[in-house]
Amino acid sequence: MKYAIGAILGVALFAWLFSVCSPAGVNKTGHEYMPDMYHPVSYEANQYSAYRYNHWEGAEFGQTFSKAQLSQPRAKVNGTIPRGYTGVYYTDASALDIVRGKNAPNAIAAQINGEAPFTYVNTEEDRLKCEKAITLNPYPITKEGLDRAKPLYEIYCGVCHGTTGNGLGVLVSVPDAKYPAAPKNLLGDDMIGSGNGRYYFAMVYGKNVMGGYTDKISYEERWQIIHYIRSLQAKSKNLEYSEKSNSLSNIEKPAKGEATGPVRVSPAALVPAPAAPTGK
Ligand code: HEC
Repeated sequence: MKYAIGAILGVALFAWLFSVCSPAGVNKTGHEYMPDMYHPVSYEANQYSAYRYNHWEGAEFGQTFSKAQLSQPRAKVNGTIPRGYTGVYYTDASALDIVRGKNAPNAIAAQINGEAPFTYVNTEEDRLKCEKAITLNPYPITKEGLDRAKPLYEIYCGVCHGTTGNGLGVLVSVPDAKYPAAPKNLLGDDMIGSGNGRYYFAMVYGKNVMGGYTDKISYEERWQIIHYIRSLQAKSKNLEYSEKSNSLSNIEKPAKGEATGPVRVSPAALVPAPAAPTGK
């Protein structure tokens, strides 16, 4: 009898113990016996565990995430930038809209996680493609932006391309200059007529003896430098390029005025949507 009571109590205790195991819900962690035997707790680079979402695995537990949803690259390490992307720099909330490409449909839009993709590779073919595709500067022309870009241009570009943009920087204009190639005259009509993508591409990859500047100049800085080069071009033609007006081209938008200049590069035609499947 004594044993029978003991056995019944023992079984009841076990039954109770198991009954307190409960699936996790949105607001509760649930209970589980020896959880680490069932779920991998290690970090997998390309997989989220159900734990991350505070859920049990399996439909019987009301699993709301499919295997496909769980099998994704995990969030990257904070402060790192994936290859092919660039870090962006936000000044305020409105700058966020700008880097997301909201005011320039064909600008390089940055993602919410603060990275801007650049998918062109370093070939002549892509240089042309990039020039055609990226016509708008995602940032409006502002005095602040031009002021910020001036020293950047003078440090990183002016030594070769000249403080005024005429291609005669100190590196090539000192008496016994050794620099092997003539830096591009950025004030030439061909450069004035070139799309912004050509400049952006040049800063990413450089060209021949000119190196790339992605490790030195951030996403926004590149675009502000392009504004600054445009302002030098306008100056050389006695035109205005400021936050009030742009008479150099009809492309870059002044923050407080209109772009009234001539057409420069017409935005690339949109790729037509693929035809709807015929139901076969
Ligand atoms: C060390 C010298 C040097 C520096 C610094 C330099 N460049 Fe250049 N850049 C050149 C040379 C040389 C060329 C001509 C390359 C060629 O056509 O072979 C060139 C060409 C260019 C072109 C024309 C590319 C094309 O598509 O034909 C652009 C635009 C340009 N540079 C922008 C910049 C900007 C913006 C900066 C600053 C971030 C900069 N460069 C810094 C030397 C330099």
